[in-house]
Amino acid sequence: MTSSMRLDLSTWMEVEKYLETSTAIIIPVGSNEQHGPMGLIGTDALCAQSIARMAGENSSTLVAPTLAYTPAPFNMAFPGTISLSEQTFETMVGEIVTGLASQGFEKFYFLNGHGANLAPLKRVRDNLSAPDVIDIRIRSWWDFDPVNQLRAEYYGDWEGMHATPSEVAITQATHRAVDAGQAQHPPRRLTAEYIKAHAGDKHGPPDEHRRDFPDGRVGSHSALAMPEHGEKLLAAAAGAVADDLQNWLVNSNP
Ligand code: NI
Repeated sequence: MTSSMRLDLSTWMEVEKYLETSTAIIIPVGSNEQHGPMGLIGTDALCAQSIARMAGENSSTLVAPTLAYTPAPFNMAFPGTISLSEQTFETMVGEIVTGLASQGFEKFYFLNGHGANLAPLKRVRDNLSAPDVIDIRIRSWWDFDPVNQLRAEYYGDWEGMHATPSEVAITQATHRAVDAGQAQHPPRRLTAEYIKAHAGDKHGPPDEHRRDFPDGRVGSHSALAMPEHGEKLLAAAAGAVADDLQNWLVNSNP
């Protein structure tokens, strides 16, 4: 993968020149939290980052450094998890957007990999959006049909809610594969009621969450992941994000 669209690997002069032809930037958002016995702590950030960077190359759009410190309070009883309060995260995101906007960026595409980021990101969007100045779009990488077709085909209901085989597969393809260990056995199946009630990572306090999901998986059979799946999921997600971004830019710039 080339790196020509990474903001952190650009010079300020390159960024100034970029702003003459585009005001768009992709900001990947993830987490650092437990992802079960075989999922990497950085899974959400690594997935969002890999997809965002590929989408940035596909659409010639700059990609900001990944926001990896985010709210994940329910996973704090698992070591390695790092969690910011929603308020701190919201303040940080707001200052990033307004700072970039002061330099001429107008179109902010948040590519999300962690459910608990959605509510604070939407508040930032609702608070900061201003016609012709700041336009914010928020999408999670699993929002797109081509991605969901693959998730359904590979894993069906075993995709589950956390430490999903699809996110594990992407990090296997891009970073590191860990032996399944105790994750070789399927987790407890979730009920439809549970999934509905806990969408957007609405989980209980840390001790309760670890008691209910002792190995960290929430209905996801992580061990079904394969690096080959990850390659396909990554390409499908990056293609869908690039298309969605370009359509958004065209339709909002008549
Ligand atoms: Ni995750």
